[in-house]
Amino acid sequence: MNIIMPNEHNRILVTSALPYANGPIHLGHMAGAYLPADFYVRYKRARGEDVLYICGSDEHGVPITIAAENTEKNPEEIVEKYHQANKRIFERFGISFDYFGRTSSEVHHETARNFFLKLYNDGVFKRKTEEQLYDEKADMFLPDRYVQGTCPKCGFEEAYGDQCENCGTSLSPTELKDPKSALTGNQPTTRKTEHLYLPLGNFQDKLEHWLNQKEDWKPNVMGQCKSWLNQGLEDRAVTRDLSWGVPVPVEGMEGKVLYVWFDAPIGYISATKEWAAEQGNPEKWKRYWQEEDTKLVHFIGKDNIVFHCIMFPSQLMAHGDYILPDNVPANEFLNLEGRKFSTSRGWAVWLDEYLEEFEADLMRYVLGTIFPETSDADFSWKDFQNKNNNELADVLGNFINRTLTFTSNYFDGKVPPLDDPTARDREILQKITDQKEEVEDRYERYRLREALSETMELARIGNRYFTEKEPWKTRNDDRADCGNTLHVCLQISAALSILFEPVMPEKMKQLRSYLKLGDKIQWSDVTPDLLDEGHPVEAGDILFEKIEDEVVQRQLDKLEERSRQAEPEQKHYEPLKNQVKFNTFSKLDMRVGKIEKASAIPKADKLLKLDVDIGFENRTLVAGIAQQYKPDEIIGRKVCVVANLAPKEMMGVESQGMILMAQDPDGNFHFLETDAEPGSQIS
Ligand code: MF3
Ligand code: ZN
Repeated sequence: MNIIMPNEHNRILVTSALPYANGPIHLGHMAGAYLPADFYVRYKRARGEDVLYICGSDEHGVPITIAAENTEKNPEEIVEKYHQANKRIFERFGISFDYFGRTSSEVHHETARNFFLKLYNDGVFKRKTEEQLYDEKADMFLPDRYVQGTCPKCGFEEAYGDQCENCGTSLSPTELKDPKSALTGNQPTTRKTEHLYLPLGNFQDKLEHWLNQKEDWKPNVMGQCKSWLNQGLEDRAVTRDLSWGVPVPVEGMEGKVLYVWFDAPIGYISATKEWAAEQGNPEKWKRYWQEEDTKLVHFIGKDNIVFHCIMFPSQLMAHGDYILPDNVPANEFLNLEGRKFSTSRGWAVWLDEYLEEFEADLMRYVLGTIFPETSDADFSWKDFQNKNNNELADVLGNFINRTLTFTSNYFDGKVPPLDDPTARDREILQKITDQKEEVEDRYERYRLREALSETMELARIGNRYFTEKEPWKTRNDDRADCGNTLHVCLQISAALSILFEPVMPEKMKQLRSYLKLGDKIQWSDVTPDLLDEGHPVEAGDILFEKIEDEVVQRQLDKLEERSRQAEPEQKHYEPLKNQVKFNTFSKLDMRVGKIEKASAIPKADKLLKLDVDIGFENRTLVAGIAQQYKPDEIIGRKVCVVANLAPKEMMGVESQGMILMAQDPDGNFHFLETDAEPGSQIS
């Protein structure tokens, strides 16, 4: 028998969170669960390891039905549209899934149904009748996502019944303050309904035991797991009163479907089955899901942690035929120009729009430098421009370009021999091996940001070395030394064309075509003598162009414009001030006053000086309304004046009181006008 050591694996199954097929993919999604996984998978493939990369559309669940309702379409139409669109976007962005499935497929329904039935027949579930929120107007039970209200923890007013997207707390709908139905805006009532529950508490010990062995998990992930476990795991309903989803295959539960978080992760299994069938080996999926020597890795965003580290593992344990994840390297969130991504507020960069103007590889690189691996990160267009210009163009591109051009101009486009190299030459050649090992170490530990920066470090080393060796001088006075310099730089270029492959596959393909290296690259080829003496190379085109200011400014304008269009409904109301007693209020003496004269105040472009008749006397008042009103348009208006306010000097004029103004949510001022006669008391 083959004895497998812990941590020794013969194959790897990588998954990325199945995106909901309810909208397009934006940068935030990409940086969370897809691009990091793709770096990792491409690295593993280059090493020749047996790695399978699985994803697909999550087509059930309330996000889909909400999108359908908002656009007055059927759920089927919505998922068809976004499944196709997102699949295409992933392809264009170079995300190299081996299979991209979908949870509406027949294979998935069958797989999910059988999985559920196994647990049901084994008596895993509890049956409970509970009160649930009901929308009388829409005549239906409200799924958690259909209830919105104020988060009890952070006060965010648009928290959902299952989770507050502001602070990440997971909630139950009855915990929300001021709950409202997302369908009708009604305040929900409650009714009784029967559901099946997965008693997570029964798995607590097993989960703890399993998680305790995980020494290499990221602290942000382990922290969340521990906090769930410390709170004690509760029963979780795995059925829902909905019509869209996998029907509950149990008598007496007609009209109910599986909870989307029960069926979606099973989608990883169904997609693997479909992949195997496509390979002509329908049983092959079992190797990836049922053999202990498979390493299962889930790439997800932080809002999915509990589902992948507690809930799905419990399902897998309850079933018994499956392996558990080896690691779940979840990412935190990416922000955009200092604000949260928000599709409804138009605050996002959609990949299809990005790809109309730029190449995928540039964004792959820039996102790779800011992956929110340990804390939230921020994408800005300025940073995008800087990294493209200063790192890709000035370091990597410049290094490659001068190496290749020089070789083609002065060495007949052939790799010069390494002829009695200096210690320095050998030291730099050694860096190829050193950096390769650094990069590997980071990939193996899911530190993809560092994997990328260690890769770039080799380009920096090469670029500095080129400058320091001044081949443009040695070309004439020390031909052998010049040849050695170019030899070393060419070996580094060849190494980079493989080491950077996971990050920028298209660009590196282009580079390898200049280096005549073909496409069957292998990580193990990264050595100081990848290229033989005399190997032909061509100068090629510039790999990376600089991005001009106007180009990124246009992206910023587009973002602002879209958010302005989406914003009008989102008015800003000042928070209410603290309560005061009536007797505090009644200390103010307010009178009707008639504006008799108005004039500008020199050097004060916001202020007007007003003469106001308050019946028994005239007052001079200064008001900050000059930007909105011209002096003659306000003469004769009868307004509210605070008549017992202590006088105050403003720009050399003493203001003997104050005019009350209303400021609307857009920031405009309005007089509070009345037809009562001047001097009338206001109370
Ligand atoms: N659709 C979910 C989301 O976007 C992720 C589902 S991951 C799976 O948050 F494991 F359930 F498939
Ligand atoms: Zn909150």
